[in-house]
Parts: sequence; C-alpha cells; structure tokens
Amino acid sequence: MQIQCRRHGMGKPGTEVPGEKALRPRVPKGRHSTPNLARAVSSRLALTPHPTRHFRAGLSHTVPSALERNPIRTISYNPVLMETGLKGRVAIVAASSQGIGLATAEAFVAEGCRVAMCARNGQKLEAAGEEIRERYRAEVFTQALDVSNAGAVHDFVEAIAKKFGSVDICVTNAGGPPAKGFLAASIEEWRKAVDANFLSTVYFAREVIPHMQRKHWGRIITLTSVSTKQPVPDLVLSNAVRAAVVGLVKSLANEFGKDGILVNNVGPGYTATGRLKELARSRSAAQGKSEEEIFAAWANDAALKRVAEPREVADAIVWLASERASYITGQTILVDGGAYKGI
Ligand SMILES: NC(=O)c1ccc[n+]([C@@H]2O[C@H](COP(=O)([O-])OP(=O)(O)OC[C@H]3O[C@@H](n4cnc5c(N)ncnc54)[C@H](OP(=O)(O)O)[C@@H]3O)[C@@H](O)[C@H]2O)c1
Repeated sequence: MQIQCRRHGMGKPGTEVPGEKALRPRVPKGRHSTPNLARAVSSRLALTPHPTRHFRAGLSHTVPSALERNPIRTISYNPVLMETGLKGRVAIVAASSQGIGLATAEAFVAEGCRVAMCARNGQKLEAAGEEIRERYRAEVFTQALDVSNAGAVHDFVEAIAKKFGSVDICVTNAGGPPAKGFLAASIEEWRKAVDANFLSTVYFAREVIPHMQRKHWGRIITLTSVSTKQPVPDLVLSNAVRAAVVGLVKSLANEFGKDGILVNNVGPGYTATGRLKELARSRSAAQGKSEEEIFAAWANDAALKRVAEPREVADAIVWLASERASYITGQTILVDGGAYKGI
C-alpha cells in the first residue's frame, strides 16, 4: 500500500491512505514523488492504528468521536501525514487571484475543500481559478468583486451558499494599503485602507457567521501583517488599520466561540509576492537603493535570513482552519521567519 500526500503528491496518484478513499487524482506538475518515504510511512501505519480515523468522525459536525468523549486519552500523531479533516469543507479565500490569497486557495483545494475565490480583475481571477481546477480537478467558484463593497460581498456569499450548500471557512484578505509616512497619506487613502483592510472583514464576517452558526462549526481567519505586532516603517496605514482587525478578531472569537466558530489572525512577514515587489520599488525610489538591496535587507531582518514563500503563509492558514487547531481562537499567528523582535 502506498501513501499519497495530497498537497505534494507523495507516492502514486490515486493510491489510498488507510481510512481514506478518494485522494487527488493527479500529481501537480513539477512536484516529485518520494516512494521510499511513502513505503516507510505505509509500513509504520500497518503497525499502528491510524489516529486520524477517529477524527474523521468530527466531520459529521454533530456526533462527537470516541476521542472527543474521552478527553484524557493521549494520541500519538503520525509525524509525516497530518490529517487536517478539511476534506469536503467549503472555504472562501478573498482577494485570491495572486500572492498569498492564491497560494491559500490552492492549499485548501489540495486538502479536498471546495473553494470560492474573488478579486477585482475578473480575467486574472478566472485564469487563476481555471489553473487550480485543471491541476486538481476540483470545484472552484470564482466571482470578480471588490471586497470593500458590502453588497458585492453579500451576493458572493449567497452565491457560494447556493452552489456549495454552506460556508465553513472564510479567509479575509485584500491588497495592502500603499507605503506612506503619516503626512504623505491623504484622508482619501485612510478611507480606502479602512474600507479594504478593515470593513471588508466586517462584511465577510456578517455574511458567513449565520451559516457557521447553523452548523455549529466555522473558521474565520484574517490575513493581515506582522505590523499587527510591530509597526513597519513607512506603512502607517497598515500599522494603524490592521490593529483594528485584531480587535475585531478577538471580539468575534469571544462572541462566537459558543457557536463553534474559531476566529484567528495570520500576520505574514515579508513574503515573495507581487505586493512585495511593489513595496521594493517604492522603497528603492525613496531610499536611492537598488531593489536587490531592499530585498536583502528584508531577508536579513528575519531570523531565518530569507523572505517567505506564499505557500508557507498558506500552510499556517490551512492548519488554523483544520481540526488540528480546534482549541485555538482569538490569536494572531505571525508567519514572519522570526522578524518580530518581541518575546
Ligand atoms: N507580501 C508581503 O510581504 C506581505 C507582508 C505582510 C502583509 N501582507 C499583506 O497580505 C495581504 C496579501 O498580500 P499579497 O502579497 O499576497 O498581495 P498581492 O500579491 O498584491 O495580491 C493581492 C490580491 O488581492 C486582490 N485584491 C486587492 N484588492 C482587492 C479588493 N479591494 N477586492 C478584491 N480583491 C482585491 C488582488 O487582485 P485584484 O487587484 O485583481 O483585485 C490580488 O489577487 C495584503 O493585505 C498585504 O498587505 C503582505
């Protein structure tokens, strides 16, 4: 028996994990298989009961599994194959035609979720959605919209609920505000930052919470920035507006925990996306340094001495949405390679 890692295509496509049936039918191009590792995992699983089978019961949303009924029992997790329990969930990833949003949409699809994506540029969004559909043979719903438009967010969530029957996970996101110092930022820019980076989260939360309450299960994950813990120079709009999102996250977590809804915030550090290149350009012009020097300084700022890949932020979001993070709410998790200097 062989194992296939659904994200990275380990082992033969179409082969089965014990206790699972349909896995991703195809290994995405460029991903490699590691049959030796897969064999090692298989033989280990043959000797030990697969712990994740118990957690699959969690997908029924109503009947607690044997493990849930027995809170003092300890579980030995398989270190290689982590079952996320996300298969079949409906996940919204806002602002997802590129960058971290796109990587997150792909990561949820790879976990077997049905995913809804949006962005303002419809052509680019559709191309991104089609690539994921094609690669994973998955159901992906796309709709062009501006997340700072409350009516458009309402229609989007309605359409998703109609198509997929529910909404389980909602990742809120929008492009970051421009890099500015305080006196350089206009009032109009402040309003836009509040609309896109704060109110959009309010709009999504208002729409998705009733769906989640009905199932007594839900995850809202806001995508913000390391600036929620440590202000970034020249990003005054982000520094100020993201803090409001954290206040909202904590309030929602407190108010809706009783409904089985977990609300958390993910704060990326410097991550190699279009947004970062844009930031490098503006810093380069302002500081008279090359873009390479700007990137090198960012990398050096992190304990890991590199910037992140979008996939690394996506992995943290998927984990927070998963059954493996079922007692975590109201938190900000930084994915910053150790750039935040506090303790
Ligand atoms: N990359 C980093 O280093 C970094 C670090 C810390 C925090 N962040 C934050 O993380 C978030 C994602 O960053 P990223 O680097 O992935 O950004 P990105 O590469 O610029 O991508 C932004 C995505 O959001 C969409 N979008 C922007 N404004 C939108 C709106 N009003 N309505 C709907 N969709 C919208 C864009 O598509 P359209 O333009 O077609 O709408 C695009 O798909 C941003 O808020 C950013 O500030 C990024």
